Parts: sequence; structure tokens; C-alpha cells
Amino acid sequence: MCGIIGVAKRRGNAVAEVLEGLKRLEYRGYDSAGLSVLSGGAIATVKRGGRVSGLEEGAAALSGGVAIGHTRWATHGEPSDQNAHPHTSGAFSIVHNGIIENFAELKAELLADGAEFLSQTDSEVIVKLIDKYYKGDALSAVAKAVERLKGSYALAVLCRDFDGIIAVKYKSPVVVGFSESGVTLCSDVPALPAEVTSVCVPEDGDFAVITAQSARFYNSSLTPVMRVRRPVFLDQFNSGLGCYAHYMIKEIHETQRTVRETCEGFFRTVDVKRLSEYVRGADRIIMTGCGTAYNAGLAARRFFSDRCGVFCQVEIASELRYFPPRVTPATLVLAISQSGETADTVEAVQELKKAGARVVAVTNCGYSAITRVAHMVVPVCAGAEVCVAATKSYTGQLAALYLISKLSCDVFDAQSELLSVCPRIGEVVKGAERAKEIAALCAQSKAVFFLGRGIDYAVAVEASLKLKEVSYVFSDGYPAGELKHGTLALVDENTLSVFVICDEALAEKCLNAASQIASRKGKVAVITCLDGVAEKLKGTATVWKIPDSPLNLSPFSSAVALQLVAYHAAIILGRDPDKPRNLAKSVTVE
Ligand code: F6R
Repeated sequence: MCGIIGVAKRRGNAVAEVLEGLKRLEYRGYDSAGLSVLSGGAIATVKRGGRVSGLEEGAAALSGGVAIGHTRWATHGEPSDQNAHPHTSGAFSIVHNGIIENFAELKAELLADGAEFLSQTDSEVIVKLIDKYYKGDALSAVAKAVERLKGSYALAVLCRDFDGIIAVKYKSPVVVGFSESGVTLCSDVPALPAEVTSVCVPEDGDFAVITAQSARFYNSSLTPVMRVRRPVFLDQFNSGLGCYAHYMIKEIHETQRTVRETCEGFFRTVDVKRLSEYVRGADRIIMTGCGTAYNAGLAARRFFSDRCGVFCQVEIASELRYFPPRVTPATLVLAISQSGETADTVEAVQELKKAGARVVAVTNCGYSAITRVAHMVVPVCAGAEVCVAATKSYTGQLAALYLISKLSCDVFDAQSELLSVCPRIGEVVKGAERAKEIAALCAQSKAVFFLGRGIDYAVAVEASLKLKEVSYVFSDGYPAGELKHGTLALVDENTLSVFVICDEALAEKCLNAASQIASRKGKVAVITCLDGVAEKLKGTATVWKIPDSPLNLSPFSSAVALQLVAYHAAIILGRDPDKPRNLAKSVTVE
């Protein structure tokens, strides 16, 4: 969370590039933004509470070949002009992503030295420390300062006496990109400018000294080190909104492509033989992730229980980390993460790897932290997902996990089975009118309950997360069988219950539950791929019949239908679905 960028250009103004980069980074946080530029041995800074667009006016008068920028997701101190980055002191200006756990004691020490603080942030202590240690050598001052820090930090530092940027990485992400026009450091590969042709990924503890011509890397003892420079092709990441009003709806429409490309990427890049040995030899499979990634695991558990006959469990990464199950060298951990940077997931799988388990990362970001922990990577090929709410990456995760689950059977079948979901998804995205109808019911309700059984329950949980985060309507997702064990007490005419009914064997039980709700005046809506449901609920429920589907593939279309419902509910209620309040896309703090 928080995005940082630094640009050192051979020719021209780095400020415009930093502003563009900050717009691409806004998904990492959007409560304030700022930038500093070095020009003629002086540093100028502009920063504001609010979104990056609020910086444009103040930045218009600035220019220089070297600049840094920041977009913030507040951890310490409210979103405000003062707490926005960069923070400056003496010859320095810095931007920081991460958390300084010992900032209070460092601040007390610096205050006792006579330092004055302008913000409530933990980050300001870093620039004060660098300034305190500066004796003419910026790199040593930065190194001395970071020796004092406990926590996580990706830092970009400008010094008025050095025509470049000093960067440091510890537990928070940073990549360095190279192009014809200069060098760019950035929190994430997808936010690099399209003209970048190669990247280096520094390791924890590394320093990078960046100029318009080069980047030199040093380890934590300031010994020069080599970091591999790998080619990247960024065009696919930077395609903009096109004809869509929001990234959320654009990305929902990219689901079919995501499924196709994930399938293609699986057979092109994965060592299928080795992965099937992992799956077939597993004494158990542990899937883990946070939020939507965890929910993808919940649905995929059904793929594994049907196919593999191996015990499969799904754990929330932030819990797993502190309560790890016993693992053996034959335990297979599937670490699911769109960004590959989620601190809870990365730390949890690090623990399990240390304990001896095999780790396979299922991720949309090939250069991310999780790929460096994992023994193997299975790519989710969703391209850049800009909307904070995960949509196409969820379905991409389902696709990758489906293929992994099939490795214990006939993997060639799996490909054609999986691709059969695409025309069904195509039908669902055409169903905007139905989605809007159910969305209108959501928007009028004080609470929305999503219910299902079996694999439909997993979809219900994800649907609930999607609705609450983009529309701010309270919602809960739970197994339909639990209704009568407590939640029924909440049902009245102001609540909506949305059933997902794609499992024929359990449909009657869900229909009974729907009738129990309707007879207590609760509103009911149903997403189903089964025939006959609409007739059975005539007059009591709004039913959206989506295309027929084999049970294990039904989440691909039912989840997309419910993503559309959440999107339209957000629009009806006037929310910004791409940037929900208080959230950020890449959760790199615990
Ligand atoms: C919800 C959402 C989050 C993420 C979660 C994990 O729409 O996007 O719940 O799924 O923060 O993120 P990743 O997958 O990047 O580890």
C-alpha cells in the first residue's frame, strides 16, 4: 500500500512522468499524493490531501530531470496536506512505502536533538535521520539511517547534492525499470511506463543508486552486487479505460480473455510434469490467501475434493501465519495472490516453506515477492487489474486452480473443459438488465445476505465481499443451511437474500430456504444455472437464469453475474467502484 515512483531522465522533464506514474499507482492508495523535483541543486515539492489529479495544478510550474512521487494509503496520521509525502529535511526529500515500527522512539530521540516535525507520519523520522547523518555522502547517510529502522520500507531519496535517486528496499516492493529515456523506480512492474524494456528487482536490504544513465546496486553492507536485468513487455499493462466508464466493468468484460490466457500461460510456462508430481504426491494441499484470493481457494477446494482424493484445506493467510498447521515435505501449499505482494500471504508461506512444505504461487504478478518465495509459479494471466476490487483476477485464479486440480487426472481434458466457460461468461456479461434489477434491490436494502451450498456457498462469500466493498451496503455471505441457526432473525422487508443455486443436488433445500425468507417478507433474488427455478419461485423472487453449466465450472459464470450486480449497485448509489473508500489494492502491510 502506498505507491512510490522515482524518475531520472536523460532529457526533458521528469515531473510529467512522475505524475503519470502516480496515476497508474493510485490503486495502491489514494488519500493523498505528492512529488519532489531536483533542479539546479534545489528541491521543490508539491503535495496535497486527495487524489493525484489534485497535484496537477501545483506541479505545472515545476520541472527537472530527477523527481520522486508518492500516492498514499494512510497508516499513521490522517490523510492531509501535511501528512502527504514527500517529507523533507535539510538537503533531502523522501517518499516511503511501508511501516516504521520503532518510529515513536526514533521521534523522541530526534525531538530531544531539537528536530521539528511537521507531520504525524512514521515516515518523517526517516528523512530527519538521513539529514542528521549527512556529512557530504548521501548513500552513507541513507545507509546509517536505515540501520536504525525496524519495520518495512521501500524508499526513494532525493538529495540536492546528487543528480539522481537513492532507493532502498526492505520487505516493501520496488522495481527498477530501464528505457531509452532513462531509469524509473516504482513499487510495481505494471505501473512502470510503457517504454520500459527491462527491469531489475532488488533484494531485501539492497540499495540502488540511480541516475539517468544507470542503476548500481549495493547490499546492506554497501558492497556492490549484480542484480539480473530481465526483459519486460509492458504494453498489455497500460491499455487505459477504452470505451468503459470504469475499470471494474472493463475488467469484468476481460474475464473470458483472462481464462483463455491463463490456460495458454499454464501450458506454455509451467513445468506440468513437476507440478503433477507435487499434486499426486501431496499428503495434503493447503490453499491460502486473503480476501478474494482466499475466496478463490474456497471455491477451488471443491475442484480438488472431486478430482484428487487428497485432503485439501483453505486457510486465511493472516491466521495461518500465526497458527501454522503441521506440514511435511510432501505438503503442497498453493499461495494465491493477485499482486503477489500481500504481506500476510507472503509471510505465511515463508513460514510454511521454512517448515518444509512445497510452495506453488498462483499469481498475476510475475516479478512479485511471492514468486521469490515459491518453488514454482503458476501464472494468472489477467493483465493489469486497476480496479481495487478483484474481478477478472478471481476468475483467473479459479482457472489456474482448476488446471492444477486436474493434474491428478487427464490434463488435456481440462483445457477444453475450462475453455467451455468462455461462451457462458459471454452470455452473462450481456445480462446487464438482470444485473441492474438485482443491483437496485441491493441498493434499497439495509443488508444483503448471499447464500448457497457447496461450491455455491464459496461464490456467495465472494459476492458478499464484492458488494460491500464497492457499494458500502452491509452484506454477509454464508452457507444456506445456516440460515435457520441464527441469521433468519435478521430477515425483514428491508433485507435482501441472494441465493446462488447451481448445484442441482442441493437446489430443493435452497428453494425451501428462499420460501422461508419470502414468507417472512424478506426480499429474495436468485442466480441460477438450473432450469425450473424461476417457475418454482414465481411471484416471490427475482430470478436471473444464467447459462447451464457443469457444477464445478459454474462459479466462472455465477461469480461474474454477481460482480455485475455489485458494480451496478455501486453505480446506483453513486460510489466510485474503482477506488472504494479506505482501501488499497496491494496490501503490503500487516
Ligand atoms: C477484494 C480484493 C481483496 C484482495 C486481497 C488479496 O476485491 O481485491 O480482498 O483479494 O487484498 O490481495 P492479493 O490477491 O493481491 O493477495
